[in-house]
Amino acid sequence: MPRTPIIAGNWKMHKTPEEAVAFAQQLAPMVEPYDNVERVVAPTFLALGAVAAALDGSPVKVAAQDGHWETSGAYTSQVSAAMLQPFVDYVIIGHSECRAYLNETDENVNKKARAILTCGLSPIIAVGESLAQNEAGDTVDFVRGQVSAALDGISADEMGRVVIAYEPIWAIGTGRSASGEQADAIIRSAVRDTVCALYDDAVADALRIQYGGSVKPGNMEEFMTQPNIDGALVGGASLQSDDFAALVEIASRVKGA
Ligand code: PGA
Repeated sequence: MPRTPIIAGNWKMHKTPEEAVAFAQQLAPMVEPYDNVERVVAPTFLALGAVAAALDGSPVKVAAQDGHWETSGAYTSQVSAAMLQPFVDYVIIGHSECRAYLNETDENVNKKARAILTCGLSPIIAVGESLAQNEAGDTVDFVRGQVSAALDGISADEMGRVVIAYEPIWAIGTGRSASGEQADAIIRSAVRDTVCALYDDAVADALRIQYGGSVKPGNMEEFMTQPNIDGALVGGASLQSDDFAALVEIASRVKGA
C-alpha cells in the first residue's frame, strides 16, 4: 500500500498570529492542487485558533508544536493535547529543541504520544542523534531506543495515526543535511525495522517516516526518491511560501500516492 507523503512546516517561534494567518492564506491556494500529499503547518500555540479558522475548508492541516499529556491541571505554561483537539490534526512531540531546552524526555514523549492518540489526534514524534553520537557510530542504537521508548504501550491500531520524523540534530537549522541515502539507511534500520520488531510487517510498512534537517527545494528530490522516506518536517524553508510550495510540488511529483 503506498504511503501518502506528509510535508509539515514547523514554524517554531516564528510568525505572530497576524503573520501566521496571512501566510496560511497565501500558502493554501499554492499547495491546493497537490492532493496526493498531506500538507501541514505548525504555528505557535498563540496562532493555532486563528490559523485553524483561516484554513477551514482548505486541504492544509494544522499541527501544534507540543501537547501536554494531562487533560488539565497545575502545569503553568503548558497546553494539553485535549485543549488542542478542536484546532489541530497533528501534534509534534520530541523535537530536539524541546529535548535540549525544555527537558523533554523519552518518558514524557511517550506520555504525550498516548494522550494525543487518546484525543483522536496524530503525533509526529521527532527522533534523532547528536553530532557526537553520530561520529561515535551510535546513531542506530540511539534512535532505536528513542523509537521504542516513544511507542511504549501504543497499540498496532493506533500506529496507523503515528508519524515519526527522523531529524539528525546536527542537520537542523545548520544548512548541513544528511545525504538522502544516509538518511534512508538510518530510517530503515533504526525506525522501520524497529517498528517491525515491536509490531509486525504491516504496521512497519504503513508507518509514515519523515526526514527533517535543512530540507529545502534544492535537496528535496534527493530525499523523496528514497524508498523509506515519506515526507519532510521542515523548519527554515517552511517560512517562505514559495519554498514550502516547491517542497510540496516535489513530494507530489516524486512520491505522490
Ligand atoms: P530546519 O528545521 O528545516 O530549519 O533544519 C527542521 C526542524 O527543526 O524540524
